[in-house]
Amino acid sequence: MSEFARELVAGLASRPRAIAPKWFYDVAGSRLFDRICELPEYYPTRVELALLERHASHIADLIGPGAEIVEFGAGSARKLRMLLDALASPARYVPIDISGEHLLQAAAALRADHPGLVVRPVVGDYVAGVDLPDPVGRRVGFYPGSSIGNFDPAQAQALLRRIAAITRGAGLLIGVDRVKDPALLHAAYNDAAGVTAAFNLNLWARANIEAGADFDLGAWHHAAFYNAPLRRIEMHLVSRRAQVVTVAGQRFEFAEGESVHTENSYKYADEAFAELARAAGFVPRAAWTDPARLFTLHWLASPARDGAGPTDPT
Ligand code: AVI
Repeated sequence: MSEFARELVAGLASRPRAIAPKWFYDVAGSRLFDRICELPEYYPTRVELALLERHASHIADLIGPGAEIVEFGAGSARKLRMLLDALASPARYVPIDISGEHLLQAAAALRADHPGLVVRPVVGDYVAGVDLPDPVGRRVGFYPGSSIGNFDPAQAQALLRRIAAITRGAGLLIGVDRVKDPALLHAAYNDAAGVTAAFNLNLWARANIEAGADFDLGAWHHAAFYNAPLRRIEMHLVSRRAQVVTVAGQRFEFAEGESVHTENSYKYADEAFAELARAAGFVPRAAWTDPARLFTLHWLASPARDGAGPTDPT
């Protein structure tokens, strides 16, 4: 059984039924996610790109000259490109991504456009932990897209703690989706064109191809709502009727209206995120928010050694 099939079977056997959102991103799911980023309702990509463009020179000053930039979940490196012209002679760019083919293509395109930039892609799952090459400069982290929101706060803190260790003596530039009017959040995850619904349902299409499942896609619908007390969007796949589904030879019964929880997307007030970052060992130093207060870029300094205190110049 593949790891995906194993996790799916375990997730359907557990209560409440759930599966981790990392399984959204097969080739079809990654394409659907790229389309989500272009949707009028899905503001995070647009707003974050504008923040990077607008504050590139201040960000570049904080990053400093000769830094090595390590990007977590780099994809097409589109956001890094917004910073490149402002950065003073970066020592190297190390994009990490689980999707090898996509990453290598993006690295080749970046090298072609920036012949002076050393690009050293690393294929792997940064959440599980990857081996990075020895640093060639102060190691700065770049973690855009509010992907940190797809982890619950305890997992997010653990991941940030690991990133703080990797970037010690420098810092992390991270994009975080803010708490806001639930109507805006609802629209962003329930777009009129149905792309987010297709992205969610693609999980069952993937299961049919890769996990020996027989999901009838027409028998499920997409549900996304804001859970205000927990400050998160929840996405679910909801059974339209009582049905039995087989996955990897195992039968699962679903009642009408029963759901499988497929994603959380946590939203943070700036101070709440700064608090999480502090608990992970960072020292929040700067934050940039758009005028509509939709999204924030945080610059988190990582002190040189545990217990060294917030004295690092970055
Ligand atoms: C990748 N991640 C930050 C997106 C989010 O907003 O949580 C994934 C997504 N799910 C539905 N739309 C976008």
